[in-house]
Order: sequence, then structure tokens, then C-alpha cells
Amino acid sequence: MYAQMVKTAGTGVKKPSEMTAQERDFQAKIDRNEKIEPKDWMPDDYRATLIRQIGQHAHSEIVGQLPEGNWITRAPTLERKAILLAKVQDEAGHGLYLYSACETLGVSRDELLDMLHQGKMKYSSIFNYPTLNWADIGAVGWLVDGAAIMNQVQLQKTSYGPYARAMVRICKEESFHQRQGYSIMMKMATGSKAQQAMAQDALNRLWFPSLMMFGPPDKDSVHSAQSMAWRIKINTNDELRQRFVDQTMPQMEYLGLTCPDPSVKWNEDKGGYDYTDPDWDEFFAVLRGNGPCNTERMAARVDAWDNGAWVRDGLMAHANKKAARVAAE
Ligand code: 3HC
Repeated sequence: MYAQMVKTAGTGVKKPSEMTAQERDFQAKIDRNEKIEPKDWMPDDYRATLIRQIGQHAHSEIVGQLPEGNWITRAPTLERKAILLAKVQDEAGHGLYLYSACETLGVSRDELLDMLHQGKMKYSSIFNYPTLNWADIGAVGWLVDGAAIMNQVQLQKTSYGPYARAMVRICKEESFHQRQGYSIMMKMATGSKAQQAMAQDALNRLWFPSLMMFGPPDKDSVHSAQSMAWRIKINTNDELRQRFVDQTMPQMEYLGLTCPDPSVKWNEDKGGYDYTDPDWDEFFAVLRGNGPCNTERMAARVDAWDNGAWVRDGLMAHANKKAARVAAE
């Protein structure tokens, strides 16, 4: 249970000669950069890949509320509390847009949540790490939301219309989230010695897990080739990870913090930083359910679902009563 172990291994990209006429037309539409809409014909694997990715993305938004929600009652000022509260609410909204986009593919939100609760669908590995102190909330906004945006900006151009449109608003809000995180880090990194140490400690613990968010190295990414051929993904995992490191290093220098990767170094020839990959054994262990917080996160989600049953029942009873009244008029 809670293992996030669903196997949906890619079957490889078909050559045009191996495609049916309908598949060739579909691919041509993608290649012309046209959007695919819910009622358009699409290959079963395209639909399944989108349900997997959008569903995982939606789950990440709502599981991602947990590590930050943990700090709402302990935010250091009323202003920080109000900002954090708004951010955590935004994440619920992101989940809502993404579940709705996923539902256009013929799967219901209840089915998606059921698969999450049964450990049959994944959510982002990052949310299986704890937020131990207030500086972690800064680092989550700066690094985790920063990594999320780096991945999601390109998804605004993804081939599936409802997903691309949902990403536009999500990206705008994520960019506010990233800035609020950086603002906390600036305060901590220029504060007392103890605050500076907390900021450095948060960076030390969250740097490598943030790099993991982009997924396994390209050579181990089972879905990238097909997802890029279908323009579900626009960039590879390694391309986006590199961009993230290049964007984040100058921000880290401005904060006066030290990268926990001692080998990180600007490489003039490639025009980017050389850096050490995260520990991929740890990444796969987290995906198998063995991260520091997997059990706690899933228990919290399942509890929220079970404890919310009376709200859902009440809303359904009200909706049915209203529909019956309208039908009787
Ligand atoms: N955490 C959990 N699972 C991951 C992962 C991660 N960081 N990275 C990859 N995986 C899983 C994949 O889902 C896949 O498993 P599956 O075959 O069982 O489904 C397997 O590892 C192999 O990886 P691939 O590279 O082949 O998989 P993808 O082509 O799907 O690429 C991805 C992975 C880049 C994460 C892609 O799915 C993607 O771009 N997803 C949309 C963005 C997303 O989900 N972001 C979540 C970030 S958190 C967030 O947005 C909340 C915000 O508030 C911070």
C-alpha cells in the first residue's frame, strides 16, 4: 500500500509506416501544433498517458498542501500567515483545474482519488519530505515551486487543449508562490546567525529532492520519447533540470547561501552549471513508498476523504433535491 508503484511503461514510438491512417492523421495534427480537444479522436495510449500525467499532477497539488498546511498555525507573523493560507488555497484550486481537465478524458475525479488512495497512482516525490522549520516554507516556495514552474511553463504549450489552458493560470499563481518563498529566504538569510543557519539547513535538505522533481535521467525515462512525439512533454527531464540549476544558482549566490553540492560549477563552454545528480536510488525508494513521509501523507489524504464523506453526501442530497424541484416545475 502507498507504494506509488503503477507500471505504465512506454511501448516505444511508432514509425509512420507502423501507424494506422487515423494515427497518422492524429500525429500530423500534433506536428502542425494544433490542439487536441476532448471530443477529437485520440489513440488509447495518448489518452492513458494524459490521464496518468494530469492525474499525477493533480494529486501532487493536493498532497503538496500538506507540508505547507503544517505551518499555517505557526507562521511568524499575521501577514506571513495570510500569504501562506492563500498559497495553500491556490494549490487546492490547481488540483481542481487539473482534476477537471483529467475528467474530460473520461475518468471521474472519484476514480482518480480512489487510485491515489489505493497507492495505484503517483504524486510528486518531493512531498514525501518533511518541512521541519519555518525556513523550509521559504525553501519550498523558492525551490519546489520554482522547479514546478520550470516544468509547467512548457506545459502551457502541451498538445491537449484542456491541460494547456489549465496551466496558464496555474503558472501565474506558481510564480507568485515562488516569489513568496524567495521573500522568506531573503528575510532568513539576512537575519540573525540562527536564522541564517536555518535557511542553509533548509537548502541542504531540499536541494537534491527538488532536482528529483524533474523525473529520472533521460536515459531512464520510460515515457519521454513518446510523450515528446505527442507534444505532451515539450522538454526532456534533464533539459528542465539543467535550466532549473542555471536559474537557481545566481539566486542562491544573492542569498549568500552555499549549494550543498560541492561540485556545482559554472561551465563556460556549455553556458550552464555542471552539477551532481541526486541519488537516484533514494528517488526510486521514495517512489516505492519508502520516503520519510509517504505513510503520513497518504494517511492524511485518506482521512480527509473519509472525514469529508458527510460534506459530499450533503452536497449531493442538496443537488438532487434542487434538480427534482426544477424537474417538477
Ligand atoms: N515524483 C513521482 N514520480 C515521478 C517523478 C517524481 N518527481 N518523476 C517521474 N516519476 C515517475 C513517472 O510518473 C513514471 O512512473 P509511471 O510510469 O509509473 O507513471 C516514472 O517515474 C518514469 O518517469 P518518466 O520520466 O518516464 O515519466 P514522465 O514522462 O511522466 O515525466 C514528469 C515525469 C516530468 C514529472 C512528468 O510527468 C510531468 O511533467 N508531469 C506534470 C508536472 C507535475 O506532475 N508536477 C508535479 C510537481 S508538484 C506541483 O506542481 C505542485 C506545486 O504546488 C509545487
